[in-house]
Amino acid sequence: MSEPEVLIFPNADALAKAAVRRIVDLANAATGARGTCLLALSGGSLPPHIYRLLAAEPLRSQMPWAGLSVIWADERYLPFDHPDNNYLQARQSLLDHVPVPAKQIYPVPTYHPAAAQAATVYAHQLRALLDAHAGRIDIALLGMGPDGHTASLFPGYPALDAPQDQLAIAVVDSPKPPPTRISLTPAALNHAAAVIFLVAGADKAAKVRATLRDPYDPHVNPTQIVCPSGGQVIWMLDADAASEL
Ligand code: 6PG
Repeated sequence: MSEPEVLIFPNADALAKAAVRRIVDLANAATGARGTCLLALSGGSLPPHIYRLLAAEPLRSQMPWAGLSVIWADERYLPFDHPDNNYLQARQSLLDHVPVPAKQIYPVPTYHPAAAQAATVYAHQLRALLDAHAGRIDIALLGMGPDGHTASLFPGYPALDAPQDQLAIAVVDSPKPPPTRISLTPAALNHAAAVIFLVAGADKAAKVRATLRDPYDPHVNPTQIVCPSGGQVIWMLDADAASEL
């Protein structure tokens, strides 16, 4: 994988505006090449801002919605109508306002009694989607927590060591509430053609520096494990998050 691209913006608003422009370009490149685009969404505080910009003109009419398929990089193990569910967050800020065919939206099935079962079902779903998308997640939108986690891959957690043939995993003791989550594994995330890390806030600055400057140690800096061969990694930071670079 080539060196990550690091882009720094004065504030979160400028970061979001640049991110949506990049997402539109990447989505059109994917659908232009293959007619389809597989997009992985994340939760957190920044994505809804980005989703609302995508759902509004002028960008709304520039996105290739009909060819888009949507999955989640991670999901809190909560009902679809729970305010902390990432699928609900994406519906409210994006998916209910744009013409992505409903059959192309793949929420994590948090209705299964056991999270491990949901992870297995989602992994099978992702395998089928990868087969239909030339083995690639075209765009993965990821955040990073103050501890350096991404998706629901937390420092020191066994999910970081998930086997290469495992695409999704249940986390039952997340340090970030709620405790139970489903996450794509490193192997799944490394199917991405383009990963965009969307990171704002001074509380992320130490881990941004560590990730980009310290030696490879994904158990300390989980975002380092996202290094898709043949893919591109783009860090979009506000000045606060980049303040220790
Ligand atoms: C989640 C997110 C999570 C998030 C980071 C950053 O479901 O909680 O997917 O991985 O991206 O925790 O979140 P903030 O940007 O809100 O700090």
